[in-house]
Amino acid sequence: MRKTWKAIPYVLVILMLTVMVAACGKNGSGSKVDVGIVLPTKDEPRWVQDEKRFTDALGATKYKSEILFSQGSSAKEKENVDALIAKGIKVLIICPQDGDAAAAAAEKAKSAGVKVISYDRLITNTDAVDYYVTFDSVAVGKAQGQYLIDHAKGKGEPLYLYAGAATDNNAFLFFQGAWEVLQPKIADGTFKIANSSEAVTLSQQKDLKREEYSKIISQVTTNWDPNEAKNKAQTHLTSAAADLKGDVAILAPNDGTSRSIADVFASDKDIKSFVVTGQDAEKASIQYIIDGKQSMTVFKDVRNLVKDANGMAVSLLDGKTPDTTGVQNNGKVDVKAKQTDVIVVDQSNVKAALVDSGYYQASDFTGLK
Ligand code: BGC
Repeated sequence: MRKTWKAIPYVLVILMLTVMVAACGKNGSGSKVDVGIVLPTKDEPRWVQDEKRFTDALGATKYKSEILFSQGSSAKEKENVDALIAKGIKVLIICPQDGDAAAAAAEKAKSAGVKVISYDRLITNTDAVDYYVTFDSVAVGKAQGQYLIDHAKGKGEPLYLYAGAATDNNAFLFFQGAWEVLQPKIADGTFKIANSSEAVTLSQQKDLKREEYSKIISQVTTNWDPNEAKNKAQTHLTSAAADLKGDVAILAPNDGTSRSIADVFASDKDIKSFVVTGQDAEKASIQYIIDGKQSMTVFKDVRNLVKDANGMAVSLLDGKTPDTTGVQNNGKVDVKAKQTDVIVVDQSNVKAALVDSGYYQASDFTGLK
């Protein structure tokens, strides 16, 4: 009897250790991980959405995942990949901070026998990418351009162009999609370009080469940074002549930059009205749309992208070949890709697309009808 009592502390210690080891195993830290997920930054709501949807989907499979953020740094991204390789991952799902710079991390993973899935943004100029899950990014740009065309007021409307970061292959795809629909409307005089001499020079050409897109994008890039977008918009409006004000159209590449560009245009007394695009259906932009401060967004249902990426990872871990819908060239090889559709959202369908679909709660917003 006394012996048994004495043994209790030891039993407790062993129990506690077992619980601690089990806990580590559950969240992935300190133990083996099957799927490593690396996302660009927590500073943009878009990627926090992805984190949430990945977390919601965890536990649905027998495999263990861990999510790390690169916080806007390719060096941090590489460290994250190294740490995940050290934990024994078999599949890496990675959204690169900089498409070219991430090639080194992908190559390291490949040489460790890890399958690499490029997520949302394509890793460029390397053969170390096995798969690509993405939204139809050209369709995102087309939807933005078409929205501006459908809401144009008369002839000769000033058109302000903004783009994403030139280090992100998607920025080219979005701009290309928009340019392909807007260019004929620039050529026929519906729009006049207000803020890019490079775009003016190329305005008679519908099909542009990458270097030509590069010239325009480097002039009107926001670097995906709302502050940079705000400063650029301020500079543009300060130097704009009277004929570039009044009713205007603005191609803004995503929601974060759209809100800051919209705020600048809204505060200029010579801007009578503006139509401004966006993408990502960020909560703050949904509120802006409800309030009439941002015209539209392109809703990319991250639940579907996460489902595709996880599905691919599980197929690979199960030794099967994942389903793909086509290929995308990354500058070096054709990468097998699975592409997901996007939805245009404005005041007319915001409730149906984002609340009735269960993506957000009605209580996340005010004034929703
Ligand atoms: C994504 C967008 C996002 C942007 C800035 C792009 O690659 O596709 O959804 O808004 O990066 O983070």
